[in-house]
Amino acid sequence: MEVIICKNADEAGHRAAARIAAILSRRPDPVLGVATGSSPLATYSALAELVQAGSLDVSHVKAFALDEYVGLPTSDERSYAATIRRDVTEQIGLDPAGVHVPDGLAGDIIAGCRAYEQAIKDAGGVDVQILGIGGNGHIGFNEPSSSFASRTRLKTLAPRTLHDNKRFFSEGEKVPTHCVTQGLGTIMDARHVVLLANGETKADAVAAAVEGPVSSMCPGSILQHHEHAVVIVDEAAAAKLRLADYYRYVWENKPEGYQY
Ligand code: F6R
Repeated sequence: MEVIICKNADEAGHRAAARIAAILSRRPDPVLGVATGSSPLATYSALAELVQAGSLDVSHVKAFALDEYVGLPTSDERSYAATIRRDVTEQIGLDPAGVHVPDGLAGDIIAGCRAYEQAIKDAGGVDVQILGIGGNGHIGFNEPSSSFASRTRLKTLAPRTLHDNKRFFSEGEKVPTHCVTQGLGTIMDARHVVLLANGETKADAVAAAVEGPVSSMCPGSILQHHEHAVVIVDEAAAAKLRLADYYRYVWENKPEGYQY
């Protein structure tokens, strides 16, 4: 697993966008995996800059989101369908017809999850998956104890996730308790994975995912088994990495022309 430590979230976003753009640009029918939340916002802005500068063509890019709340209509601005529309589709300029979000309102959730897995396969699989990480180590909404083999399915959000998500809902409003999320097996099928984390609240989760034992108690730790995973963090999120100096050394001494 490669670890890149950046001065701040903005630098992390630019580094992530450069890597994502390079991966998308060499595929004829690129598929981008997208996450909601605050961690990838700087990456989406940086991708939009590349598109505006004419350095990245997204006309053929399809996208699949990681997850969606169960029970929130897509017209609700807190739904992940609305968030992806705003932060990704409109900002980067993707064709909305090619952007997919799991259906949290499906009458038959299990059939909806199967159809989502099939849609990813039919698109040729995800070329590069953008991830954030929860304070409890979740990726997507695969909470601690999630199976490493899991596929898209209904999950119950952990108490810590409910607490963290409260900030998007007003006082007294019920925070959704369930979601549909890609599984850890689904995420691991992506050809490349770029995980972003900023701020001290992520330091424990980043250290556990990167340097801890591979364990379903920290779902992000499964990325240690991914062939092409990069973790891009700011200084605060890197604060608990024991080998931080080594990761910096590796980055600074990358052989000329070495590509991901
Ligand atoms: C979002 C998702 C979650 C978030 C994680 C971090 O689609 O799947 O795993 O990436 O909860 O959220 P932020 O970035 O808001 O700290």
